[in-house]
Amino acid sequence: MADRAVASTIQRGDRLNQARAALEAVGQDHLLRFHDHLDAEGRDRLLSQVEQLDWPGIAALIREHGHETATFRLPEKIDPAPWYPNRPTPDLEGKYAEARQRGDQLIRDGRIAAFTVAGGQGTRLGWKGPKGGFPATPVRGLCLFGCLAEYIDKVQRKYDAQVPWYVMTSTENHEQTLELFEREKHFGLDPGNLMFFSQAMLPAFDKDSGKVLLTAPDRLALSPNGHGGSLMALYESGATADMKRRGIELISYTQIDNPIVKVIDPVFTGLHALDGGQMSSKVIRKTYPKERLGNFCMVDGRITIIEYSDLPDDLAHEQREDGELRFNAGSIALHVIQREFVESLNEAPGGFALPYHRAEKKVPCVDIDTGELVEPDEPNAVKLETFVFDALPLCETSVVYETERSEEFAPIKNEDRPGCVECPSWSRMRQTQRAAAWLEQHGVTVPRNADGEVDAEIEISHRTAVEPDDLKEASLPQSIDPGQSVLL
Ligand code: UTP
Repeated sequence: MADRAVASTIQRGDRLNQARAALEAVGQDHLLRFHDHLDAEGRDRLLSQVEQLDWPGIAALIREHGHETATFRLPEKIDPAPWYPNRPTPDLEGKYAEARQRGDQLIRDGRIAAFTVAGGQGTRLGWKGPKGGFPATPVRGLCLFGCLAEYIDKVQRKYDAQVPWYVMTSTENHEQTLELFEREKHFGLDPGNLMFFSQAMLPAFDKDSGKVLLTAPDRLALSPNGHGGSLMALYESGATADMKRRGIELISYTQIDNPIVKVIDPVFTGLHALDGGQMSSKVIRKTYPKERLGNFCMVDGRITIIEYSDLPDDLAHEQREDGELRFNAGSIALHVIQREFVESLNEAPGGFALPYHRAEKKVPCVDIDTGELVEPDEPNAVKLETFVFDALPLCETSVVYETERSEEFAPIKNEDRPGCVECPSWSRMRQTQRAAAWLEQHGVTVPRNADGEVDAEIEISHRTAVEPDDLKEASLPQSIDPGQSVLL
């Protein structure tokens, strides 16, 4: 017994010495200031966090992004990216029909996996726990993970095919996500077709001193490294190897926050496959020049997203002859990605790197001198993230396809407040509007007020329909009463 206790003390001493040496080498040894006052669990937690990080790499990032505000270098020549419209023009009708067939076949043959990035912190929504657990739908209050799960369930039944689902979490919400799926009995999906993995984390650091912050004496201020981290995490977690074993060729990438997202879209996937894309994207048509969406541009022959804040005003306002904005394709972060593209990025000699984006944030942190927790009033810290769309210029071929806002855009990002957009009440309203439009296409009378707004709450479960045509098999009411709550 005594021997084991001595051995464990020596081991702890070694760990501490190694951690101290690694941190001293990069001027971050203040992180161990409270180590000696922690209990065994706290010491272990702190040392484990320190051990998991690449400190020379972090020091280099802090040197590069620590002090200056990142300046975006505008390319010399920027053109709008070409994109496929949502509904085909007459010359594209044949191609779209072929794309639908190809997409349907890929699903039927089990070549497509669903992939959801759910590692974000959901700060703006202020929901405790994984964002995927947020109750999203108008009638049942089904959570966001549930909306996506029902979609996958329907696709599997409709095509008599398997659609494995890969979910990226962060170390902050991984366990809670697993618990949620257990509690919900995996929303009826086969747990053998689900895989969860965490993305890498990066520490937030003080914006003036470059010192990494602690959120508690035994905890670094870690946050996920951005959705761009998914391209590495897919590979390192073994997800792409698992896909390969299953014969998966294409990854349908979606975010967790949109309850009406088409988790698998046969036309989009078909267009991507027909054109031989490596990573393709869906866009919506912008409604005004500086709308807060990334702009799809063409730079040096490659599709490139330029943030709304970086696109110069004259370009943002420029109009075509028909009066439409010249840069009118806005990003909604939906992609189809070739599995082999993800593998090739990760297997490239020297690996691959996406650029880091710097954001100044308010991060509550421990005062290193007093040990007290400080709640900052102003942004005190820098967080660094990579964005998945920065991989687009690495593609030789990349398809851009328009989707309609009314059909596919109801993300929940913000807390509810009067007049809010991209918040829960706004999303429920958009879900109802889409459901109403689908029902009206099948002759159901939907109550609308003088402004044309739907005077009812309507929810169509994805198990019932993932597109309007699926409602042919459903038993539908002839009409809906004003104020009624209807679940189909
Ligand atoms: P957002 O930035 O819109 O949402 O991420 P968020 O990070 O959840 O919320 P805020 O910004 O703190 O309020 C868009 C999508 O990317 C995922 C999110 O989970 C969401 O699905 N994401 C974001 C990650 O998976 N990892 C990240 O590091 C960041």
